[in-house]
Amino acid sequence: MIVLDGNAVSQKVLNQVREKVTALDRKPHLVVIMVGDDPASKVYVRNKQKAAWQVGIRSTVIEMESDVSEMELLDKICELNDKKDVTGILVQLPLPPQIDKNKVITAISPLKDVDGFTPENVGKLSIGLEPYFYPATPQGIIMLLDEYNIPIEGKDAVIIGRSNIVGKPMAQMLLNRNATVTICHSRTADLEDKIKTADILVSAVGKKIVRCKMVKNNSCVIDVGIYRDSNGQLTGDIDYDYVSESAGFISPVPGGVGPMTIASLMYNSAKIY
Ligand code: GUN
Repeated sequence: MIVLDGNAVSQKVLNQVREKVTALDRKPHLVVIMVGDDPASKVYVRNKQKAAWQVGIRSTVIEMESDVSEMELLDKICELNDKKDVTGILVQLPLPPQIDKNKVITAISPLKDVDGFTPENVGKLSIGLEPYFYPATPQGIIMLLDEYNIPIEGKDAVIIGRSNIVGKPMAQMLLNRNATVTICHSRTADLEDKIKTADILVSAVGKKIVRCKMVKNNSCVIDVGIYRDSNGQLTGDIDYDYVSESAGFISPVPGGVGPMTIASLMYNSAKIY
């Protein structure tokens, strides 16, 4: 079993991004908007800032109070869309309940949408056009698979989770690489049966869901889940010890998909339109 080293591969990507940024005449500037004080969001935003600093990308964090109005947030996005010196805009999710997430995402200029979440970028991805940006987590996973020369074409890929951030764009990107894709979710009738068929298994649920030894022999298992268990340990969706008996490749938590997502976001943030 080979452990997919997200720390090492992400450093390699970040080094390439740093070289690219150094050579650019016009410097990228990422603006991250964080609404409220969700503790997990704070950690993510801090990690994004650190990575931006590491690769020489200017980054600004705009913090807004949790009771900010939707209109105020939309106005801020419009202002950033029009600013020539801002090249990337990211609104950290989740947003408080008074704000319609989809309205906010739709307001971001597709040319500055480093998350790849706007309808234009999602639409382009789904009809086989090149989006301005691919969503960071699935793009980071593809980078990881490619780095280890894990074949995608013709393989059976099973994705657990159907979020707009991970599950759906992951399915689309694997489909574009000619995998046969199954998306599973909370209402899937026989999850274990589906898992058994996977050459590539991607779990993005946020709870321990893959406990069985039934992952296919020599398959590639990607764990997107990251949360603290009852002992305060960082853990993922996959029971590593069980699965490592049959999997050929596995991405650990921490040190797998997490650092790849950040590197992939920096890769996007170095793109200027
Ligand atoms: N919250 C959790 N993941 C993400 C992400 O990839 N982008 C944004 N903007 N917010 C998130």
